[in-house]
Amino acid sequence: MKQMIMKVLLVGNGGREHAIAEAIARSKYGVELVVFANNVNPGIKKLAADYHVVDNLSHFDELREYVKKTKPDFAVVGPDNPIGDGMVDVLGEIGVASVAPFQAPAQLESSKYYTRELLERNLIPGNPRFRRFESEDGVYPFLEELGEDYVVKADGLMGGKGVKVSGDHLNSHEQAMGFVKECLSAGHSSVVIEEKFIGVEFSLMAFVDGEHLAYMPVVQDHKRAYEGDEGPNTGGMGTYSDVDHLLPFLTPEDVQQAKDISEAVIKAVKEDTGQPFKGILFGGFMATKSGVKLIEYNARFGDPEALNVLPLLETDFIDVCHAILNGELSTLTLSWKKQATVCLYVVPDGYPENSAKGEILEIGQMPEGVELFYSSVSEEGGVVKTTGSRSLGIVGIADTISEARVKALAGIEQVKGNIFYRKDIGSDELVQQRVETLKGVRG
Ligand code: AMP
Ligand code: GLY
Repeated sequence: MKQMIMKVLLVGNGGREHAIAEAIARSKYGVELVVFANNVNPGIKKLAADYHVVDNLSHFDELREYVKKTKPDFAVVGPDNPIGDGMVDVLGEIGVASVAPFQAPAQLESSKYYTRELLERNLIPGNPRFRRFESEDGVYPFLEELGEDYVVKADGLMGGKGVKVSGDHLNSHEQAMGFVKECLSAGHSSVVIEEKFIGVEFSLMAFVDGEHLAYMPVVQDHKRAYEGDEGPNTGGMGTYSDVDHLLPFLTPEDVQQAKDISEAVIKAVKEDTGQPFKGILFGGFMATKSGVKLIEYNARFGDPEALNVLPLLETDFIDVCHAILNGELSTLTLSWKKQATVCLYVVPDGYPENSAKGEILEIGQMPEGVELFYSSVSEEGGVVKTTGSRSLGIVGIADTISEARVKALAGIEQVKGNIFYRKDIGSDELVQQRVETLKGVRG
């Protein structure tokens, strides 16, 4: 028996939002889901009582109208752009609280410089040497100062395309200067140039109620399009998490250092903006020779990271949402399935640069222990087609990373079409390589 009826507004339509929708649908409470989206996600649509499509999620007049019509009890906002544009503030003005931060604390994601400067001012560890530039003046001397290892970042949301790393995408100071010019002429008011960390990356997400953080299992993302970490950067081709909710190359002390940084940041951002950060804080960290460093913060779930962790969440997601909204996370002990996960994103041929659009995907029955999340696809009359971006997130869940990968691969066997995916994610070889890399870095 479902205990009560409530209405939840979900904003967004990617794989991440499908995973959120599934977590909501599993609730013991009777929840009616209403959706404000850019596109019809067939997985979310199936779970929704109402589904409204708009051209731009940040057209807040349409949002106000939709809220007036549907009267949700609260909202869960998935993607970064509407959060960065102040959607949570707008919803707050019309009486709808959100599991997502207001615009000011969400600067943790929307401004790279804000976050670096906040850490510096509050003496929080984890920062690289960094400087902000509003013109090309002084850039070259700072590059010379940093030598061979630096990163150039546009100061704003660029869907993961606003960052270039020396040695990977930039092979000379001249190329770096070219990218600085490109960012500034593309309308970014500034760029941040910082020291490049050497090590292994991991994602640590937490539910945050303004003060307390409740952590999710640690996840590793794979941003490069092709096997062996080759090719262009993407939104994330796949992810894994381990049975102990750590990662094979990390020590508990590494994770503790990351938690210490996130806790200090949540305190500092409230003092700085006068507004508590409520929602999901997603830290991208790097384990290095000299401790754990901060790569960036996001003010939302990761995609694919959400696809790994939400299926493991045993605590009712609606209880978690209420605890976030009411500042009661410290009274809730989260419970997670003690299993490993591997998420593999199925993407159209040519992704990310020349994605095949409108290609038919035939999707069979997923085997046991495999979850399928729809991402950027369209569906008409039961026919699913690619729309250009990542198409399907397929998650294997098992007692080891290795078995979870085998399950995810079995899931992908059920998908036919002009697609590709990375077979190596979660393989013993790749996981062992990460362990060796970090050992080498730490000496
Ligand atoms: P971001 O959008 O800030 O996450 O940057 C995208 C990617 O660039 C990250 O996932 C890292 O792989 C890389 N990156 C960003 N900042 C640094 C840094 N300071 N040192 C090394 N790699 C970095
Ligand atoms: N998987 C990285 C992100 O969501 O930004």
